[in-house]
Amino acid sequence: MNGKYHVIEFGCKELLIVLVGGFFGDEGKGKIGAYLSLANKPKYAVRTGSINAGHTVYYEGKVYKLRSIPSGFVSPTTTLLIAPGALVRLDVLMNELRDLRINDRTFLDFNTGIIEKEHVEREKNDSMLTSIGSTFQGVGAAMSDRVLRRLRLARDVDELRGMLIDVPGAVRRALEMGDEVLVEGTQGTFLSLYHGTYPYVTSRDTTASGILSEVGIGPKDADEVLIVFKSFITRVGEGPLEGEMVKEEIEKLGLVEKGTVTGRMRRVAPFNIDLAKRAVMLNSATQAAITKLDWIFKEAHGINKWSALPNEARRWVEDIENQIKVPITLIGTGEDAMHVIDRRKDLGVN
Ligand code: IMP
Ligand code: MG
Repeated sequence: MNGKYHVIEFGCKELLIVLVGGFFGDEGKGKIGAYLSLANKPKYAVRTGSINAGHTVYYEGKVYKLRSIPSGFVSPTTTLLIAPGALVRLDVLMNELRDLRINDRTFLDFNTGIIEKEHVEREKNDSMLTSIGSTFQGVGAAMSDRVLRRLRLARDVDELRGMLIDVPGAVRRALEMGDEVLVEGTQGTFLSLYHGTYPYVTSRDTTASGILSEVGIGPKDADEVLIVFKSFITRVGEGPLEGEMVKEEIEKLGLVEKGTVTGRMRRVAPFNIDLAKRAVMLNSATQAAITKLDWIFKEAHGINKWSALPNEARRWVEDIENQIKVPITLIGTGEDAMHVIDRRKDLGVN
């Protein structure tokens, strides 16, 4: 047979992965998104949510703090998309595109929302937002304008012409061609407007269904819902946090973290299995990641193989896995995007 008539592509299988936060945001979705992009090289990485959510990526000795674009930018062959349900602020977006030199592979949907200065101003003097500990990035105000149908969208902005595409259509075509798509959620399940600790929540549904809806993908198209937990819980802003530690304890255990967007000290609590189980339920998670294992088991730092983990750390992970009833496929053991134990092959998961 002449090869001209038979094109056989190996390893080509459509795959749509949704990344979702399992607690209150800052679980390390940026790191996991970066790792998955480097490992899987998806055709598209899609950003949802908005600029109140900062994703941090460490890669090859550099640190990136992303507020508009997907963490998947670290994969140079991946095209970066911003969802129709997402909201951008033009100055923040343009700075990110310039600093990362990704203009030529970043696209927004025609319907992506635009946050204006006025939205930030409006939030500043809002006592309710002060009491819940908002990040005051104008996201809630812009969302409320969207609900009232007076928000400017990307299609109304001259500057963005040439960067606009039909994101749902592009994702659909990619899946039909057998390509892979990574959809990146923001914040965490318990900051969801519907399923979180209302009113101490953000202005959108942060669960997998909300994320898919923001992109324009129906629930049946998600092959994997990968929920990201951290080995301990952090929360910025107000609202309930069971088992919250006092400052001295946080410092003694070395669990001090600061917010990416606000620089605020994060509140800290131990891993909470009941919250984790509920998050798995609310998202129909099919697999889970746990980041910062090296923060609670120091000997785990930088390890890339499951068998090389200390017994105690492996037992801790397995115990959670048994209780949440989904495989823990990715384990973060250090700050770099590549500091990951990837168990997907061993566990026979996508
Ligand atoms: P807002 O969405 O900025 O109004 O903030 C509402 C609540 O969600 C506050 O407690 C914020 O600290 C929290 N929040 C918003 N975005 C993030 C995030 O990306 N990570 C963690 N917490 C967030
Ligand atoms: Mg964050």
